[in-house]
Amino acid sequence: MSLAHDFDAVAPNDLAAYWMGFTANRAFKKRPRLVVRAKDMHYFTPGGHAVLDGAAGMWCCNAGHNRDPIVEAIRRQAGELDYAPPFQFAHPQAFTLASRIAELAPGDLDHVFFCNSGSEAVDTALKIALAFHNIRGEGSRTRLIGRERGYHGAGFGGTSVGGILNNRRLFGTLLTGVDHLPHTYNREHQAFTKGEPEWGAHLADELEKIVALHDASTLAAVIVEPMAGSTGVLPPPKGYLQRLRAICDKYGILLIFDEVITGFGRLGHAFAAERYGVIPDMIAFAKGVTSGTVPMGGTIVRKAIHDAFMRGPEHVIELFHGYTYSAHPLACAAGLATLDLYRDEKLFERAKKLEPAWADAAMGLKGLPGVLDIRVVGLVCGIDLAARPDAGGRRGYELMERAFHEDGLMVRAIGDTLALTPPLIMTEAQIGEIFDKLKRAIQAVA
Ligand SMILES: Cc1ncc(COP(=O)(O)O)c(C=O)c1O
Repeated sequence: MSLAHDFDAVAPNDLAAYWMGFTANRAFKKRPRLVVRAKDMHYFTPGGHAVLDGAAGMWCCNAGHNRDPIVEAIRRQAGELDYAPPFQFAHPQAFTLASRIAELAPGDLDHVFFCNSGSEAVDTALKIALAFHNIRGEGSRTRLIGRERGYHGAGFGGTSVGGILNNRRLFGTLLTGVDHLPHTYNREHQAFTKGEPEWGAHLADELEKIVALHDASTLAAVIVEPMAGSTGVLPPPKGYLQRLRAICDKYGILLIFDEVITGFGRLGHAFAAERYGVIPDMIAFAKGVTSGTVPMGGTIVRKAIHDAFMRGPEHVIELFHGYTYSAHPLACAAGLATLDLYRDEKLFERAKKLEPAWADAAMGLKGLPGVLDIRVVGLVCGIDLAARPDAGGRRGYELMERAFHEDGLMVRAIGDTLALTPPLIMTEAQIGEIFDKLKRAIQAVA
């Protein structure tokens, strides 16, 4: 069944005005991939064809699409309170949602600062880290340490600590005083590993070298994704995050986990911090908190960091930071309904239970033409395809396009690497369906 002619049937007047982000605009507009409706595990094209969602939209829709309780909560909220100013005023659900998120977070990660996206969540964490050191009289701690192949959003802060060449190279010097740890991927030692690879924990010790180079007194924070997602799914080597935590503790450096994609069940736990038994000083979250329905992000902060700000005259603002749409009523309503759904349907546990079947099915693609490596952890899978000679990224693009139009599967392509991150409501039968479709598509672009 070809879906190729869907778009012609209901073409919008003009595709030119919308400049799409992180998109090959000219190629897209020649053959658009449009969706107009969604339900549970599927998107639907303008022509009514079902597309199985292998990506949870974009690592967002963990509860599946258009779930009735979430839709109803948003409707109700829109009819009751459209907007409440988040500076000096508030609405009750903001507090309820913050408490619910703090309950889900491990250890004394007890306080939640709301914003609207992962990028803002990261910038918020970086700013809190700098301010925290400052108010404690350690204002020389200004350096921020990211990691190669990390993605932390598109703001200047996140781009600076991020480690993706194409995201950085056209944008000048970015933030100064930033350094990067090496990434943790090594195909020779790690290829076709299920879960966390055995090799690579020692790479955390590179932080010691950064301390030796800059001195601990200049280092504010280290930020990493517990599992790097956007550059192609890099699960942390066993013991790596523990070692990073220990070195940060040794030198008084804050550790920030960017859990924008790992939060809310993706790795079988509320947060990856729980899976790995490592408590960071801050967690940046977004996406899954509302299952993608209304934009929302936030930063969860350990009690001691929050409390350090709560001093001085009580009428004075403690942190000069925030956003007009922080804790927006629609986002809070969506967030509360989403967390209820995660709890009632035990979706985090479900992800954990499905992980072995998911991993086995993914590894079933080993040996297909052009498949160089497969990585799986939680309900995530990254597949490296061999690049076409002199045309890096083309095979990945062709696969994504073909999977959508011909096979009815949504998959993300990052260059020649594919990322699969389905909603957590996926059935075992749908695991089979996803990898059957993918197999066909991989063979077709071989
Ligand atoms: C780890 C991580 N951090 C931050 C972001 C940025 O989030 P947003 O696009 O909501 O700003 C993303 C987005 O994919 C992400 O994967």
